[in-house]
Amino acid sequence: MAPVLINPSILSADFANLERDLQAIASADHAHVDVMDQHFVPNLTIGLPVVRRLAEVSPVPLDVHLMVEDADRWALQYAEAGAASVTFHAEAAQAPVRLARELRAGGVRAAVALRPATPVEPFLDLLGEVDMVLVMTVEPGFGGQSFIEGTLAKVRRTRAAVDAVGADTWVQVDGGVSRATIGRIARAGANVFVAGSAVYGAPDVAAEIAALRSLAEH
Ligand code: DX5
Ligand code: ZN
Repeated sequence: MAPVLINPSILSADFANLERDLQAIASADHAHVDVMDQHFVPNLTIGLPVVRRLAEVSPVPLDVHLMVEDADRWALQYAEAGAASVTFHAEAAQAPVRLARELRAGGVRAAVALRPATPVEPFLDLLGEVDMVLVMTVEPGFGGQSFIEGTLAKVRRTRAAVDAVGADTWVQVDGGVSRATIGRIARAGANVFVAGSAVYGAPDVAAEIAALRSLAEH
């Protein structure tokens, strides 16, 4: 069984207090870092210089989610910046197999992300080349959106495809993950859960991480 991992998204943290807000999630598995370029998605966040410093001060490894065009050009630089895992979008990569191999050779976990409307089936050959598939459960770009129920079927198909390859590939979900949704997403086969507003919006961040973990494990 793939391990259950809880990766809070710092998109919902206080951008004026990122170090403090990273310390607050020390009981999580990774910090999920959303890099947006205002082209692939209609929002702009942080880039290499900030990610470099976050990697130096974070108590947990960084899970970097690149929502940028021209992923082939940028992804490896995030590996060099200190990420533990780098996720690029299938829709933004020209040569996803080559990119995944470069990332792994660069010493990080490689992951491919799919927008809600992107089917997994054209990417089945890529599954053996990556360490994780991210099934977006909202349209990428913003925190605090509602979970798109229709993506559950894709989580199921992705898990089945990964198991069929026999690969030890993790299935991650991102968007609208909360106490209300995490149980059925876990039962659909996801094992890595990104949660932004649910974690940072909670009165007790550590308790929320523990609650999400326990709901995903049962
Ligand atoms: C959205 C980002 C997410 C976002 C999730 O494009 O990729 O990581 O922070 O936010 P919540 O958990 O609030 O839906
Ligand atoms: Zn994300």
